[in-house]
Amino acid sequence: MLVILIGMMGAGKTTVGREYARRHHMRFIDCDHEIEARTGVKVSTIFEIEGEEGFRRRETQLVDELTRESDLVLATGGGVVLNSDNRAMMSERGIVVYLNVPTPVLWERTRHDRNRPLLQVPNPRERIENLYRERDPLYRSVADIIVDGGRGNPGGMVRVIEKAI
Ligand code: S3P
Repeated sequence: MLVILIGMMGAGKTTVGREYARRHHMRFIDCDHEIEARTGVKVSTIFEIEGEEGFRRRETQLVDELTRESDLVLATGGGVVLNSDNRAMMSERGIVVYLNVPTPVLWERTRHDRNRPLLQVPNPRERIENLYRERDPLYRSVADIIVDGGRGNPGGMVRVIEKAI
């Protein structure tokens, strides 16, 4: 089984994914961490050197590689759904879980984080709202399961996912 977590920055994909994997004795990989491990630099550095385009190329290559695996829980970066190839690969190859979180909560969780290059803008709060508006329909279009990630603790969300799968 391949479980793929999608959703905005700060939705809790890494925390929930790691917990789901632990409880089900599956491997866990976070795409951003994997890109950092392979390149030896932070995501923000890749954005600085190669631009968003370079990062997206690496992300798509990794999604293609990792969605061929099984017994794996995969946490993706928030922008993974922007690419139609990524969307097709994810929905064809895995069970896609969308962690849907209201934008004020996303803002609280990400406001002090410097390793999210898309939020290093004069008005990051507005940026989150615009990204959410643009991406929410894309997340929904590939999701097999939609989880309300705004209130509950990670354990509660894991149980919701377990019931749905
Ligand atoms: C991005 C989200 C980040 C990371 C990159 C771009 C996005 O991942 O991939 O900074 O476009 O929303 P997280 O969702 O894990 O923060």
